[in-house]
Amino acid sequence: MAEPRHFITLLDISGAEFRRLIDRAMQLKAARETYEPFKNKVLGMIFEKSSTRTRVSFEAGMVQFGGAAIFLSPRDTQLGRGEPIEDSARVLSRMVDVVMLRTHVHATVETFAQHSRVPVINGLTDRFHPCQLLADMQTFVEHRGDIAGRTVAWIGDGNNVCQTYIHAAELLDFELRIACPHGYEPEHELLTAAGDRVTLLRDAREAVRNADLVVTDVWASMGQEEEQGARAAAFQAYCVDGALMALARPDAVFMHCLPAHRGEEVTAEVLEGRQSIVWDEAENRLHAQKALLELLLTG
Ligand code: CP
Ligand code: NVA
Repeated sequence: MAEPRHFITLLDISGAEFRRLIDRAMQLKAARETYEPFKNKVLGMIFEKSSTRTRVSFEAGMVQFGGAAIFLSPRDTQLGRGEPIEDSARVLSRMVDVVMLRTHVHATVETFAQHSRVPVINGLTDRFHPCQLLADMQTFVEHRGDIAGRTVAWIGDGNNVCQTYIHAAELLDFELRIACPHGYEPEHELLTAAGDRVTLLRDAREAVRNADLVVTDVWASMGQEEEQGARAAAFQAYCVDGALMALARPDAVFMHCLPAHRGEEVTAEVLEGRQSIVWDEAENRLHAQKALLELLLTG
């Protein structure tokens, strides 16, 4: 049996494939006719954590493609009662055509993929969120054209989305400036591997100066709820507000993977403001993941 193609991190695709996925996502978004290449195909979705966008975009995408999606949670499957992830992978991948997982531990998705007969997609782990970057890069291209050579400022936590921006900077050739407080940096090895494409700073203003894109995310990710108080204190100087946006290029855009906490990592003024493209970004999860499903299922 041919080895299935997985999407565990962004580095599972090349820069050229990333660009083709963006083009294809834009085509699928513009298409008006019915297109059902995946009739009777089934996507299994395992969610250890909450989700609105990821769940609905994958489910809607599969239905639009003529197939179906099954939502599985540890609360009501044997996964929650200790059935090994290896066994779950062997069984589920004999029944469905592609699997998406959102897990706490990144290794869970890797282990699942090692035992799966069908493509496995990372729908967010504690380390990476590659589907988010497909949508983010599509959204930037739609609004501002090619991102190669541009400057992106990441403000706040060096979290799963930030770490995926590091991979995107490598694949699509943009400059990434990360501004975060001490103790909340992305993994050292990821920074080293990215070389001079990625710069780590402490001052959010320095990161944002003349940036084309300003991005942030929540201060406490899913699973870090009990750290909320300590994080709120550590991140006080990392709120994206109007004064910070004013330092970016006049045509800079703002993105956030959502859900957002107004008044914490971003002000309501910026989130709802003229530079914010967060709603297009959210919509593009649907189109970008449909392009991804095509790539993994049909090559
Ligand atoms: N951005 C994102 O992944 O949203 P959900 O948690 O709602 O899926
Ligand atoms: N960093 C956030 C992203 C949510 C889509 C989290 O992991 O909770």
